[in-house]
Order: sequence, then C-alpha cells, then structure tokens
Amino acid sequence: MKEVKVGIIGFGTVGAGVAANILGNSDVIAKRANVKLVLSRIADLDITTDRGVKIPEGVLTTDAAEAIREADIVVELVGGTTVAKKFILDAIQAGKPVVTANKALLALHGEEIFAAAEKAGVDVYYEASVAGGIPIIKALREGLVSNRISRIYGIMNGTCNYILTRMENEGADFTTVLADAQKLGYAEANPSLDIDGFDTAHKTAILAALAYGRWFGLEPVHVEGIRDLELADLRYADELGYRIKLLAIIKSADGKVQMRVHPTLIPKNVLLANISDVFNGVMVEGDMVGQTLFYGRGAGRNATASAVTADITDVAVNLAAGSVRRIPAFRPGEQFSEVLSMDEVS
Ligand code: HSE
Repeated sequence: MKEVKVGIIGFGTVGAGVAANILGNSDVIAKRANVKLVLSRIADLDITTDRGVKIPEGVLTTDAAEAIREADIVVELVGGTTVAKKFILDAIQAGKPVVTANKALLALHGEEIFAAAEKAGVDVYYEASVAGGIPIIKALREGLVSNRISRIYGIMNGTCNYILTRMENEGADFTTVLADAQKLGYAEANPSLDIDGFDTAHKTAILAALAYGRWFGLEPVHVEGIRDLELADLRYADELGYRIKLLAIIKSADGKVQMRVHPTLIPKNVLLANISDVFNGVMVEGDMVGQTLFYGRGAGRNATASAVTADITDVAVNLAAGSVRRIPAFRPGEQFSEVLSMDEVS
C-alpha cells in the first residue's frame, strides 16, 4: 500500500483536528482508499500550545518550507490571504498538490491559484472551504456534473446560524453568543468576516465558480450581514410565522448570474428555516436532478477536519494512481459572461 506523506501548515483548531483525524482514522482510510496517510510535518509559529492531540516526535516544526519539502501533499490551514497564498504557490511550484480550507483566499485569488496549479499539473482541493463538513464541493464537481445549475442557496455560515438560533431561542445577547461561537472554534480569526456576511460571500463566490466555470470575485456579490439584527427583529418575524436566516443566494438565468448574501425571512414550515445551531443547509437546483438539499455541521474542528481529510485522501489516491483530478474544476471553458445586478432577478 502506498504511503503518502502529509505536511500541514497551520496548527490551530482545524489543523489539530486534521492531525487527530489522520492519527486516529488512517486505518479506516487505508481500508477504504488503499493509501496510508502519514503525518510528516506540522508547521506553525506556535508549536507549544497544547491543542489536545498527541503529535509524534519530530513532526512539529516552525518552518513552513520544511513542511512543504518533506510532504507529498501540502495542507494549508493558516487562513487569511497573505502568507497562506505564498505557502500554496510555493507548494504548487514545488510540484506538490495542495489541500486548503481557505475560502477567502480562493474567492479573491482562485483564478491565479488554479492557473498555477494547472500549469504545474498538480491538484488543489478545497472541500472544507464551503459549509464545513458537508461535501458540497464534491457534490457540485462530481455528483451534479451533468446538470445545468439554475439556483444555489442556503445557510453557509455556522457562526451566524448559531448566533441567530440562540438569540431566537433564548433571547441571548448578540455579543455574548458571538463570544461563545469563538470559544467553540466556529468563528473566523476576525469574526467580522462572519457577522458582516463576507465569509458567506467568499463561499458564494466559490460555489458560483464551480457551477459556472468562472471566478467572479467578490465585487459583484451583494453583501449584508447580521450585525444590525436585533432581538425585536427576530421576535416580529416569529410572530408573523418566519425565521430570519443569513442566506447565500446564487441564481442564473439567460446566461447571467446573480449573487447575494443577506438576512432573509423564511416561513417556518420551510426546511431551511429549521436548520439551527452551527448547522448549514445548501440547496442546489439542477435541470436534470431538480432540487437537492445538503445538511450538516458548517463549522467546528471535527466537521471541518473531516472535509479536509477527505480531500487529502482523494489527492493521495490520485498520487497513488499517478494522475491528477480528472474533472478539473476550473479549466477555462464555456462560461456565463455577465453578472446581474440586484434588481435584474427577483
Ligand atoms: N467561520 C466559519 C463559519 C467557519 O462559522 O461558518 C467555517 O467556514
């Protein structure tokens, strides 16, 4: 059985989860996928804080370049759009396939990263970038590949859904619940990305790119977050038979695409209105399959690690077979060329 060395850059919440997943479940992965994942290095500036996982001797390092050098697959879990981008491009240039959970980076620099990967002939996988543990990227890339996608919408930020749920159920105070979401490892390092809607917008841009074969960037995405929602808003919605959820909405019609993120009133008898806590739900509508709904934990250490480790396994299988992904997500092809403004699609 082929042994595949995994180098992780970033030993925070998700990095520790991925390390725990590989150390704890590599036997299951080996049985299913016929590859043996081996943790070669974990790089972080802080390798002394206890992350609750016992890492084998010699694996932790403060040198990201060493982690890239010693790996067959590089896993970027640093987050942000500066050093993370450098690590990913360094790995690609070294001919190493990359797994990342970095939605901000892909939304803003996906075009450059995938062009570099295509040139180098290596994989870049990013399942954990959207909707945490839900395999929505795989679903769009593979399971729904034969469909023309007309709509994608849903709850894609666990932190906001957790906040809204607790405000609605307990009358909890926004700031207190946000602090709890941070403690639970749901929120971004900069939680403004969550509550001001930008994290959802990053995910929207990634799903739109997968569905329509083109990087739109963030500029055409209308973004409103939940920062200004008050308990009174949730109570009035409740009295009228609605819940308020932060939705990502992607619609396409006549070769045009519209993308928006904003708090939305949803009737209580609709499935999405009943997705609570840190859970996400994503509806995808294709011309062949009709409506499909994906549900699961949208944030948190283990759910996110599950998605990252699935990607690592996919890439390891590709390496063992001596090939790269046969369905590239972003090969330039026929694309929707226009972006609708807010008032063009209702
Ligand atoms: N902060 C993000 C969320 C993490 O709450 O959904 C998962 O992308």
